[in-house]
Amino acid sequence: MDESLTVADPTPDAPPAPATRVRAVLDVDLPGPRINRHLYGHFAEHLGRCIYGGFWVGEDSEIPNEGGLRLDVVEALRALDIPNLRWPGGCFADTYHWRDGVGPREDRPAMVNSHWGDVVEDNSFGTHEFMALCELLGADPYVSANVGSGTVREAAEWIEYLTRADDSPMARLRRSHGRDEPWTVPFWGLGNEPWGCGGGMSSGAYAELARQYGTYSLDHGDNRLYRIAAGAADADYRWTEVLLQNLGRYLGDGEVTGHGKNTYQAISFHHYTIVGPTWEEKGSATRFDDDEYYRTMVKATEIERIIAGHAHVMDAYDPDKRVGLVLDEWGTWFDVEPGTNPGFLFQQNTVRDALVASVHFDAFHRHADRLVMANIAQTVNVLQAMLLTDGDALVLTPSYHVFAMNKGHQDAASLPLTVRGETPVRDVDGTVLPTFSGSASTKDASVLVSLSNLHATEALVVELDVRGSAVGAPVGRLLSAETVTAHNTATDTPVQVRDLDDLSVEGGVLRVTLPAHSFATVSFTVDA
Ligand code: AHR
Repeated sequence: MDESLTVADPTPDAPPAPATRVRAVLDVDLPGPRINRHLYGHFAEHLGRCIYGGFWVGEDSEIPNEGGLRLDVVEALRALDIPNLRWPGGCFADTYHWRDGVGPREDRPAMVNSHWGDVVEDNSFGTHEFMALCELLGADPYVSANVGSGTVREAAEWIEYLTRADDSPMARLRRSHGRDEPWTVPFWGLGNEPWGCGGGMSSGAYAELARQYGTYSLDHGDNRLYRIAAGAADADYRWTEVLLQNLGRYLGDGEVTGHGKNTYQAISFHHYTIVGPTWEEKGSATRFDDDEYYRTMVKATEIERIIAGHAHVMDAYDPDKRVGLVLDEWGTWFDVEPGTNPGFLFQQNTVRDALVASVHFDAFHRHADRLVMANIAQTVNVLQAMLLTDGDALVLTPSYHVFAMNKGHQDAASLPLTVRGETPVRDVDGTVLPTFSGSASTKDASVLVSLSNLHATEALVVELDVRGSAVGAPVGRLLSAETVTAHNTATDTPVQVRDLDDLSVEGGVLRVTLPAHSFATVSFTVDA
């Protein structure tokens, strides 16, 4: 590796610089909104090696599988308690015709995956395979309908196929394909990025379509759909506003009867952490210097302002928070790894990605009153992946470890963690980047605190004044590595989670030393 591209280590003989210190108050007796477990959701698109080679290897593969589904991937994801999985896209969803993906595999027609690599998709992974995957993972399915190039009838029949129990035409078709009982499908997406790959529509045109598709997206039997309208790119608050205005008297539905009552219960948006200078030069996932690292963190921390912006617009129309905000695509987007198909979006994953994830989760926890779901893009082998497959080897990425360390926040009550005095900051091209990030939650008389030190080269001492309860013996975990460019491969795994040793409690103050560019969690019991 070119040494000029690595983060400089401190000079070995120099005396260590005194660690910066941050003080914060944690009120454990002031529980806030519940952190919806679906904020830890995932996304699997027919894109590159996410489905094929990632989740699906086929029944004849030598890689251990159940019905064609890769068991090492399933096992690793089960350990994260993944709450939901979004499928089949992304842009692919608006080109997908579900009937091509059911029935005997040898009879399924092929199609061209025009968005991703222009490759031929043989539809060997379809509805039954996806639902079997969700069952193995213990995850709720989030299915995205084709609004861009499909029909209302096609979408309506897919729901009937998935969720209807009686002798209806689609239930009968499902049975003829070997599945007697209907599945439960809680989450239903109305297209994807309709302003772009999903149809190039205006917000007004899409809003009408969303209401139309929502109207015919029926609840069959006991299945209750949570319909998610496809939303804005980044800070396009106007898109969100138009979708809210379009709901009119159907806002929050359930209370209105008659036509249009289904409409949609949530509005999504997408935000990727992309650092230029141009779309063609997004930078390498593993070869970057400190300046690029900090620019990435500035982009990542923008998520807080963008969530707050959408939430603010929603509050104006929906003060009772009946409509959910969903971030169903987020994560880093760098140049693909050299030598790989540019349409496959395969990138490595470093400590930088882990810190992008940790600051996103802190923001999600703080906005748990409005943000109800989020989906990392994407789970395996694409963009900010949890898992990379290399033949029969499976690599757990640094991002994976953040999801694992943070899983205790799922369905816990958020807690206020307030910095007292100065937050350590860094000037990044004129933008102030706080180099400390943290959040906390409580569940079952236990508290989980997440702490990130974003400084590339300096340690940070965090002193948490825990108020409202005595603090039980703390247990700390640390994700760290020598350099911020460190990443795991099939043969070398320098980014590991280990016990956090530099941890103490005195007089109700929890004191933790975070090494440079590190993420830690601390859990402790509190008075019930
Ligand atoms: O996640 C990759 C792509 O990014 C998705 O297909 C699309 O929705 C977004 O632009």
